[in-house]
Amino acid sequence: SQNIYILGIESSCDDTAAAVIHNGKILSNIIANQKIHEEYGGVVPELASRAHQQNIVPVVDQALKKAGITKDQLSAVAFTKGPGLMGSLLVGTSFAKSLAYGLNIPLIDVNHMQAHILAHFIDEEGFDKPPFPFLAMTISGGHTQIVKVNNHFDMEVIGETIDDAVGEAYDKSGKLLGLGYPAGPEIDKRAKLGNPKAFKFSKPKVDGLNFSFSGLKTAILYFIQREVKNNPNFIEENLNDICASIQYTIIGILTDKLKKASKETGIKHIAIGGGVSANSGIRQALKDGESKHGWTTYVPKFEFTTDNAAMIAIVGYLKYLDKDFTTQNVMANARLKI
Ligand code: KG4
Ligand code: ZN
Repeated sequence: SQNIYILGIESSCDDTAAAVIHNGKILSNIIANQKIHEEYGGVVPELASRAHQQNIVPVVDQALKKAGITKDQLSAVAFTKGPGLMGSLLVGTSFAKSLAYGLNIPLIDVNHMQAHILAHFIDEEGFDKPPFPFLAMTISGGHTQIVKVNNHFDMEVIGETIDDAVGEAYDKSGKLLGLGYPAGPEIDKRAKLGNPKAFKFSKPKVDGLNFSFSGLKTAILYFIQREVKNNPNFIEENLNDICASIQYTIIGILTDKLKKASKETGIKHIAIGGGVSANSGIRQALKDGESKHGWTTYVPKFEFTTDNAAMIAIVGYLKYLDKDFTTQNVMANARLKI
């Protein structure tokens, strides 16, 4: 059998990441988080590009070292072409091109959204790979999509957000409540301690399998303004209940569409990915779906759900097997579609 080593590079948003995959198995998965954005309560694109520039070489070095290989052993270099922030994508793209050029090895471009889904195909003990066709819901700070996956590279987006991503709904709600960034994990933690029916937020009416989260954010804003006018301590006194109610509404929105998608397509294999798939509510809803709707559900290992380079490396490996290489003319594409 062949020894294929692929270096994966991810720089689409605020994480600089590199990973090495040997055949289908991840040998290293390194991420440099950019703490700088916390004080701004969101990602600042200009600062993200600069941090990528600083981090990229040390992160790649560490990934190779941890994998126990030298760059001369690499079979190919895979990188995120898009979608994402242009300045951030340019750093990873330019670096990957130079490295492949210098080593005279194939260069492989990767769609970040496909990668979130194909992360399910990393060889990992205790994690099953979904059979085709399956439905994948990618939920994070940057995306919210339901994708019908017919084959590794035959995917169809059947639903997506028309405004904010679900992670943004968490983070923006958190900001209104005075929580730190990103607020998703803390809202999740507090939600478990509160009453999900304490406050009612209406669900948006969006056609088909699409999502909308901006109305929810506005509803929460007005709700808080109104209540704080009557009681300045309203937030502190009701924080867990508010978090539980927000979470209940968001999970309801996600699962309604997932149920609809499963019903319409007749597909009962359901996979999730992206940072919000860490959420306890969505995990519980998936589990409930197994007995209620006969679903088989797939959640990847946590380190492969948030933005990472292991998912870029597995796509690189699958494309390498297909000899699906790109050229030195390739350009980053901030709005790349599945
Ligand atoms: O995939 P990710 O690391 O980065 C991208 O946005 O691509 O996702 C980050 C998002 C943030 O919005 C964060 O608040 C959310 O995932 N998040 C959560 C949880 N953990 C992370 N949202 C809800 N519940 C969680 N447990
Ligand atoms: Zn992502």
